[in-house]
Amino acid sequence: MEIKEYKTKHLEQIMDIENRSFKCPYDRRIFQSYTGSPLFLVGLENEIVLGYAMGTRSGVIVSIAVDPNHRRKGIGEELMDKLFEKMKVQRMTLTVRTSNKGAYQFYKKLGFKPRKKIPDYYENGEDALFMSKDK
Ligand SMILES: CC(C)(COP(=O)(O)OP(=O)(O)OC[C@H]1O[C@@H](n2cnc3c(N)ncnc32)[C@H](O)[C@@H]1OP(=O)(O)O)[C@@H](O)C(=O)NCCC(=O)NCCS
Repeated sequence: MEIKEYKTKHLEQIMDIENRSFKCPYDRRIFQSYTGSPLFLVGLENEIVLGYAMGTRSGVIVSIAVDPNHRRKGIGEELMDKLFEKMKVQRMTLTVRTSNKGAYQFYKKLGFKPRKKIPDYYENGEDALFMSKDK
């Protein structure tokens, strides 16, 4: 798999993965607003998008998703490793839904530690778990 920076030509494939990955998917405008960011990465195999990861310069992981047909093959880990490498920060942070056990296990495996629960964080009233990892 090749990891490249996001380009507009990847948007439709990303939206497809997004819609199959989340109950409340991001609107395409969120992805469009990260156009040109060196911290919006896509994993590609023959120009097919297998997953994406995006973050901010301040070390926040904004989102990550891998095509449901290609999970548990190390793609998510590879995308996160590349993102970490490109972020020039000492600490990376993220929030995850408390119901998203798979993502929680994934982040734990990557070395993130749960720091605090944030009640009523999401629009449906669900709690978030704030996690962080020091480089
Ligand atoms: C979370 C996600 C990005 C992981 O991507 P992935 O490519 O499947 O992850 P990897 O194959 O790199 O997993 C690395 C390790 O993380 C852990 N892990 C990953 N997914 C897991 C799951 N569903 N349950 C338990 N552990 C998991 C495992 O230890 C795994 O290693 P192993 O397969 O050798 O056991 C993917 O499941 C996904 O897109 N989920 C839906 C979107 C989402 O919830 N994103 C996070 C939003 S906060």
